[in-house]
Amino acid sequence: MGVDVALRIENLRKSYGSAPAVDGVDLTVEQGQIVGVLGPNGSGKTTTVECAYGLRRPDSGRIRVFGLNPLSEPGRVARLVGTQLQDSALPDRIRVGEALHLFAALARSPVDERQELERWGLAARRRASFGSLSGGQRQRLLVALALVGRPRLVFLDEMTTGLDPNARREVWDLVEQVRRGGTTVVLVTHFMDEAFRLCDRVAVLKDGHKVADGTPGELIDRYGGGTTVRFSVPPQAEVPRLAELPGVLTAERVDGRIEIRGRGPFLVSLGHTLAVAHLDDVELDVRRPSLEDAYVQLVGPEASR
Ligand SMILES: Nc1ncnc2c1ncn2[C@@H]1O[C@H](COP(=O)(O)OP(=O)(O)OP(=O)(O)O)[C@@H](O)[C@H]1O
Ligand SMILES: [Mg+2]
Repeated sequence: MGVDVALRIENLRKSYGSAPAVDGVDLTVEQGQIVGVLGPNGSGKTTTVECAYGLRRPDSGRIRVFGLNPLSEPGRVARLVGTQLQDSALPDRIRVGEALHLFAALARSPVDERQELERWGLAARRRASFGSLSGGQRQRLLVALALVGRPRLVFLDEMTTGLDPNARREVWDLVEQVRRGGTTVVLVTHFMDEAFRLCDRVAVLKDGHKVADGTPGELIDRYGGGTTVRFSVPPQAEVPRLAELPGVLTAERVDGRIEIRGRGPFLVSLGHTLAVAHLDDVELDVRRPSLEDAYVQLVGPEASR
């Protein structure tokens, strides 16, 4: 049984002048998923998303949005897609309620405007001008506008940049709600906790190339460097050979401190071995790698922010 695909990008290339911004990117987004696009500044994320939406013309490659070509059928694609693009801005003087009304008027089956303002915490700012909003309020309005037409696919480019920690969590909940409603989400973000929390899959770009693609768990397993376990033993204690346990990558002992790095279910055999050696009262400090560890490994520490 084939899975329905919301977005398929094949071998996308786009240059501004001589330097390629996107240099052969493939990306498949299945319907109903939240897919993250990660990568350092200038790695081609926004360019990829803008090409996918039909806002920019690729130099080459193939893009299909629900099977439609955004370049030859821009109107049909626009009705299926919502965007909160990184640099979207509104005229300073437009009021919050007016902006929502304007976007709703363009949509075929818009959401309820009042409810939408409530939902995004903007009801009290309905009559405020865009120019008078705080950074976070602007950001929330732009995300609300992207969703006003009940899109089947929405592109959110750095949607939580500038939001306070509580507002970020609220926006995450709203994005999950949107997905539960059946909307597919492409999320460009620099926040690893956000990608880990929300994304079914993530693609990592670097210098216009995709360097990894998978579930957050897969990327952590593959590039996170393994789980590290540290513990102390009495200096005279006899410690069994731990380096040969299945899944252990390295085992080091410096004085009474032992550090083991491993992958897979090595913790079980480690615990068993320690118990057999009467070392079952040692306190294990277990550190699992995060998506950030995997990301830094993939793109290099100098490129992360
Ligand atoms: N309109 C433009 N004109 C010329 N060069 C551009 C333009 N837009 C992007 N670029 C260049 O293309 C490359 C990729 O930019 P892009 O905006 O796609 O990166 P990004 O991954 O979204 O970065 P960021 O994390 O900073 O948003 C960069 O080198 C950038 O300078
Ligand atoms: Mg960008």
